[in-house]
Amino acid sequence: MTRTVRDIRSKAGERPITMLTAYDAPTAAICEAAGVDLLLVGDSVGNTSLGYDSTLPVTVEEIASRTGAVSRATDEALVVSDLPFLSVGIETAASVRNAGRMLKEEGANAVKVESGPHTVELTDRLTDLGIPVMAHLGLTPQRVNEVGYAQQGTDEEAAAGIRSLAREHERAGAFSLVLEHVPADLARELTDELSIPTIGIGAGPHTDGQVLVVDDAIGLSERPPPFARSFGDVRGEMQEAIAGFKRGVEDGSFPDDGAGDGDAGDRGTEDGGTEDGDPDNGEDRDGDPGDDAVQ
Ligand code: KIV
Repeated sequence: MTRTVRDIRSKAGERPITMLTAYDAPTAAICEAAGVDLLLVGDSVGNTSLGYDSTLPVTVEEIASRTGAVSRATDEALVVSDLPFLSVGIETAASVRNAGRMLKEEGANAVKVESGPHTVELTDRLTDLGIPVMAHLGLTPQRVNEVGYAQQGTDEEAAAGIRSLAREHERAGAFSLVLEHVPADLARELTDELSIPTIGIGAGPHTDGQVLVVDDAIGLSERPPPFARSFGDVRGEMQEAIAGFKRGVEDGSFPDDGAGDGDAGDRGTEDGGTEDGDPDNGEDRDGDPGDDAVQ
């Protein structure tokens, strides 16, 4: 049974909350098996899988497709879909439609919005409509052209701005708050003050939970940020496996004699269909292609 935002809220203070990004079904399934609480379909997919040099080009379509893949592989973890640059904030109706689509069509349980003064009312509206909102303050990479990737909230005025926006988003109904690349003292202060869980990345050890970009956590990223830690060496393993394949083909040791015999098998679910047996379950449930959404 999928966790709810209420489960996540009640975990705060009991034990640290864990969140990783996931952009595809196999990664989501592995995270789920490890018991990770939340899976964020982050717009960091732009810098990771999609090869952009920032998150700005990421589209609603790209996030929607990745959200569907992660949701299909997930029963327990709460799936949070990140709303990409300019998919919210231009017009309320389009913002609500873009957010709602992630729940209605792609199976997300909540959305994350990079927050600012312009997202307080939207958070209230989405929450009213039953779309749980994770707020995000501190370093918000969609503002890279204004602030780069520098630590935020380092002087009193900037810290006060973050404190006040955090309170406003809590009042507007956000169920949790990501704090990215802010001083540990500020993160601790907010964690003590707010009733919603804080989830930190580069924000020290005092938040209610921690999030990392999965590519950084597994050691796949070429240039992880200084505050990340890699808990594995997937890049090294991939390099070895791929070099092994090339060697095997070139020296004739792959394939073996007879390796082409037998049934090609089925890479899908056991019965070869979708998990719920409904071949149409990837399609629009309301038949609305959502073509007025910002792409
Ligand atoms: O897109 C993302 O991966 C994020 C996390 C770093 C919080 O926003």
